[in-house]
Amino acid sequence: MKALILVGGFGTRLRPLTLSAPKPVVPFANKEIVLHQIEALVKAGIDEVVLAVNYQPEKMMEAFPTSPTWVGGKLQLGIRISTSLEEEPLGTAGPLKLAESILGSDGEPFIVLNSDVICTFPFEELIAFHKAHGKEGTIMVTKVEEPSKYGVVVSDGDGKIERFVEKPQVYVGNRINAGIYIFNPAILERIPLAPTSIEKKIFPVMADEGQLYCMDLPAFWMDIGQPPDYLKGMVMYLSALASGDVSGEGPSGATFVGSLVEGDNFIGPVFMHPDAVVDETALVGPNVVIGPGCSIGAGARVQRTTLLAGAKVKAHAWVKSSIIGWNSTVGRWARLQNISVLGEDVKITDELYINGARILPHKTIKDDIPTPSIVM
Ligand code: GDD
Ligand code: MG
Repeated sequence: MKALILVGGFGTRLRPLTLSAPKPVVPFANKEIVLHQIEALVKAGIDEVVLAVNYQPEKMMEAFPTSPTWVGGKLQLGIRISTSLEEEPLGTAGPLKLAESILGSDGEPFIVLNSDVICTFPFEELIAFHKAHGKEGTIMVTKVEEPSKYGVVVSDGDGKIERFVEKPQVYVGNRINAGIYIFNPAILERIPLAPTSIEKKIFPVMADEGQLYCMDLPAFWMDIGQPPDYLKGMVMYLSALASGDVSGEGPSGATFVGSLVEGDNFIGPVFMHPDAVVDETALVGPNVVIGPGCSIGAGARVQRTTLLAGAKVKAHAWVKSSIIGWNSTVGRWARLQNISVLGEDVKITDELYINGARILPHKTIKDDIPTPSIVM
């Protein structure tokens, strides 16, 4: 069975991180977002994954695997991974048509994923449910509190979708499209080789024809394409990790990952790379991910935060609900909070107060930022 991952969006809502790396290769729990998905697909027996790429293709190619290993031989995944490069952005449906020769080659259903969703990826259950109802498509759904930023689904008791409304302006329901699908190759006949939204142009028609079913996701789910949601997803993922619902391991040869750590100066869950260093007088957690080469200094306090590779939190700094970008530094006695996101190589000098700031790469900050703002 084949799968396609839509890795082409611009990732603007995850800036400043996506100024340094395409969204699918931004690390989440010390592993590229897309790698969480590829590993789950491999476990479910998928033998070929197509990456539908249009944005920063050269950066994607550098970071993404080609069959049978990642470029540079970093990872062994044991499946074929190909890339399908768009000349213009084809939206969320067009890329399926572009990859028709692969997706339609064996007559079997194929899986499609948005690249920014995190969950336990229950593909086996999805495949079984899809084959049992026998119609053209199945989408996974989940309940959320704020449905207006998603695609909303209304279905009957058997899971047959009656309505699909993308980003509804008025309340339709709270069960939403989780961005994980399985389709029969017949769907390819509905899609033109042109920019097309699967959510706006294809799903509503399939629903009208009774060809689209939905299946509820059993456990946690989050679209991590925006900083507040990235952190919410991190909290969910870490508790799934602590209860054994996800493994947190990487494939053989992975340079990232880590393990849940315990000790007097950790309040779990804290997931830490083995090369990171935390001073024994710091207090870290709950809900912290610490990447490779990171350090947390004496007396520092860090909670609900991700530190990307090489990030440094200096002595006595206080950090909460923030993302510290690659090789960035938080100075001594600094206070960082309220979804502050530091791009790559940002320096916060000592004793500053940073509240809800998004700071672009390579900036040195010398003054307080007391109200949420973007620093160019
Ligand atoms: N190859 C390619 N080409 N991929 C694209 C393109 C394109 O032109 N445009 C978007 N994508 C990819 C994005 O990278 C992402 O993986 C996926 O398609 C969805 O795009 P987003 O921009 O993340 O959409 P969204 O989050 O607003 O909404 C979508 O996801 C929600 C769940 O997270 C929709 O599918 C909603 O219905 C859904 O509820
Ligand atoms: Mg998204």
